[in-house]
Amino acid sequence: MAILVTGGTGYIGSHTCVELLNEGYEIVVVDNFYNSKPIVVDRIKEITGKDFKFYEADCCDKEAMEKIFSENKIEGAIHFAGYKAVGESVAKPVMYYQNNIDSTLTLIETMERHNCYVLAFSSSATVYGSPKTCPIKEDFPLSTTNPYGTTKLFIERILQDVYVSNNKWSIALLRYFNPIGAHKSGLIGENPNDIPNNLMPYINKVAAGELPILHVFGNDYDTKDGTGVRDYIHVVDLARGHIAALRKIMTQTGVEPYNLGTGKGYSVLEMVENFEKANGVPVKYQIDARRPGDIATCFADGTKAKEELGFTCQYEIDEMCRDAWHYIEEEKKRNK
Ligand code: UD1
Repeated sequence: MAILVTGGTGYIGSHTCVELLNEGYEIVVVDNFYNSKPIVVDRIKEITGKDFKFYEADCCDKEAMEKIFSENKIEGAIHFAGYKAVGESVAKPVMYYQNNIDSTLTLIETMERHNCYVLAFSSSATVYGSPKTCPIKEDFPLSTTNPYGTTKLFIERILQDVYVSNNKWSIALLRYFNPIGAHKSGLIGENPNDIPNNLMPYINKVAAGELPILHVFGNDYDTKDGTGVRDYIHVVDLARGHIAALRKIMTQTGVEPYNLGTGKGYSVLEMVENFEKANGVPVKYQIDARRPGDIATCFADGTKAKEELGFTCQYEIDEMCRDAWHYIEEEKKRNK
């Protein structure tokens, strides 16, 4: 019996594959390499010393998904596959709705056909919109500020309807806060080809000299130093959160949202300082205007994940910064 990991060569997906294999799960991975590279498949095998079946396919492709479920005994799925760039989603909403929703519907249909009802869905703290207070609990009101976020919220609602229609389903809606860092090996991590949207990849590129300066989006928020505060979680902790959720949903039915965050908030300037201290590399920055759609503060209340999944984070901020940079340095060496 295997766990299907869709989008398993992406940033969070690849780290989750490693943790699943380390925990002794058999996995089957599907990815179309839209936002990742084939080498990641080899890297996962290199880190774990374990083999697994890989399918290059699009999760919207019904025939391909049917083939995967026919050829393997799948007992549950973790669904990472999806587009994830906020700015692009504003420019191309139809593409985002089509891909993210269609892939999920295709997956669900195929799972039902094969009597497989265990699903962990890759959601986001973005579904809380602009929260009135922090820490954020799972029962806070939901809203979104961009099409990417709306795809996550719509899919959460769809999955709730799916459960109502068939109570055999067991679904975890995993709401990620801000994943950063990389696997200790330096073999997998996050290094977008384009100009990064997110803070840590941008800091990495400035530290590496590939971009001249970090633009800090606003220093007039109602926070400790005026810059935005977020809950940064080590991607390996986030991956471990999936294993904890999987264990839980394999023994029950229902649909439950869980926050996966550390519960601690760091400002942009604190992140710059932490990065510089952890790695001994300077990060030049300047204060710029706020980024439209940004919120001041966002951090998790992780009580539910702790009590119901037994999940807590192991990594502190200095290690997150070190591991993020280590991956970039290793990539540089490999590309020489
Ligand atoms: C962003 C997305 C969110 C998505 C998440 C995925 C927006 C508005 N939100 O969240 O929907 O789920 O990524 O990881 O894009 N910052 C800078 N300079 C930069 C980049 C970021 O100052 O070059 C600041 C931001 O203003 C924010 C903090 O750093 O205060 C974190 O930003 P980011 O990494 O983009 O994450 P979120 O905005 O939390």
